[in-house]
Amino acid sequence: MKILLLGGGGREHALAWAISQNPKCDQLICAPGNAGIAEIATCLALNVEAPDAVVAYARHEEIDFVVIGPEAPLAAGVSDALREAGFLTFGPSAAAARLETSKNFTKEICAASGAATAAYAHFTELEAAKDHVRAKGAPIVIKADGLAAGKGVVVATDVDEALRALDDMFGGTFGAAGAEVVIEEFMDGEEASFFLLCDGTDVVPIGTAQDHKRAEDGDKGPNTGGMGAYSPAPVLNEDVANQALETIIRPTLAEMVRRGTPYQGVIYAGLMIRDGIPRLVEYNVRFGDPECQVLMMRLGAQVLDALLACAEGRLGDVRINWADDHALTVVMAAKGYPGAYAKGSFIEGLGTDDPMVRVFHAGTQRDGDHILANGGRVLNVTARGATLAEARDRAYERVSRIDWPEGFCRSDIGWRALDKP
Ligand code: AMP
Ligand code: GLY
Repeated sequence: MKILLLGGGGREHALAWAISQNPKCDQLICAPGNAGIAEIATCLALNVEAPDAVVAYARHEEIDFVVIGPEAPLAAGVSDALREAGFLTFGPSAAAARLETSKNFTKEICAASGAATAAYAHFTELEAAKDHVRAKGAPIVIKADGLAAGKGVVVATDVDEALRALDDMFGGTFGAAGAEVVIEEFMDGEEASFFLLCDGTDVVPIGTAQDHKRAEDGDKGPNTGGMGAYSPAPVLNEDVANQALETIIRPTLAEMVRRGTPYQGVIYAGLMIRDGIPRLVEYNVRFGDPECQVLMMRLGAQVLDALLACAEGRLGDVRINWADDHALTVVMAAKGYPGAYAKGSFIEGLGTDDPMVRVFHAGTQRDGDHILANGGRVLNVTARGATLAEARDRAYERVSRIDWPEGFCRSDIGWRALDKP
């Protein structure tokens, strides 16, 4: 079959790597892709957020299956347009993608379905929001309603910080995303991510992961898109996962069906776990980046069968075969990230890998025989192992052979899980 994959980050390189190993994949095209993806797929320039352009391309190329990586095309209605035009598509409708694109929508769904999450209130007026903060006290969590490039959440440790966050959001720092604000109870605990495929009715867990959001060792420094991840997440054990399924995921999906907007695609539930009890922090309607890289490393080629079954509404037939192993990924970023950074530096030492290691490209570009950095997060050095420590050692050994003076990475990915007795 001829498959079109939308996106061009490390997540999509990992998806492309897994999909292209499945014998059902005859041809893989990725838009826009990157230099790493170009080694295993045809890359093309296409505006992946323009539904008409994507449909026209899929028609012209007679694409059999479209996989959508990032949230922006989903929010733009690309999956709706593709399905309407008759293309088998993996990824939720724009209506169902509101589980990521609107925090208030998610809270409403949780309230209507009884899904376990933090108590909340929703505001469209600054003064009312401030009164609420003063009444509740700190710690308290302030969230801009819409997509804000991962920056629309302030976990305020005192009331002044919360009030300042409200001033910023209503003052337009996040554009339209800040015109509505959700204020939430602060939840204490350990965070982990749960990934599931849903075909509208059936749901199949496909793995757990934890990431490191801060730029520097010891979980210090500014927030980023994620500096590394590992799978499985020890804190999200089978018992916690089953609870999350029954008290959060299934109620949510049932409510989506009840509203006439069934959810089809991968659901990424960010959970806060305390004393073995999970509560929802947020949903994302796509694979995490870099969480996808560790999931793909563990799942491999069977992922294509699972994504197809999901898109065709026959997840009931799917059995995921789990290797009893661990995967860990180290993000290499351009110095300065998540602030200003330079593009165009040379990266050497990307040669062949052993089968237990993959260097996924997140932001690269080819220039003749050279690979150049072309983004903030640039490489995801990903390894498998019988234990997490083995995966970690293998990943860092590979990192040490990459020659890129303008890049950096954290040296302690996995510490939380590795420190557990
Ligand atoms: P979100 O974009 O909703 O995932 O929020 C970003 C981060 O803020 C999460 O990964 C959590 O670390 C933190 N966070 C969000 N909501 C809460 C909450 N209610 N209690 C504690 N931490 C939270
Ligand atoms: N790594 C976090 C995310 O993809 O949202």
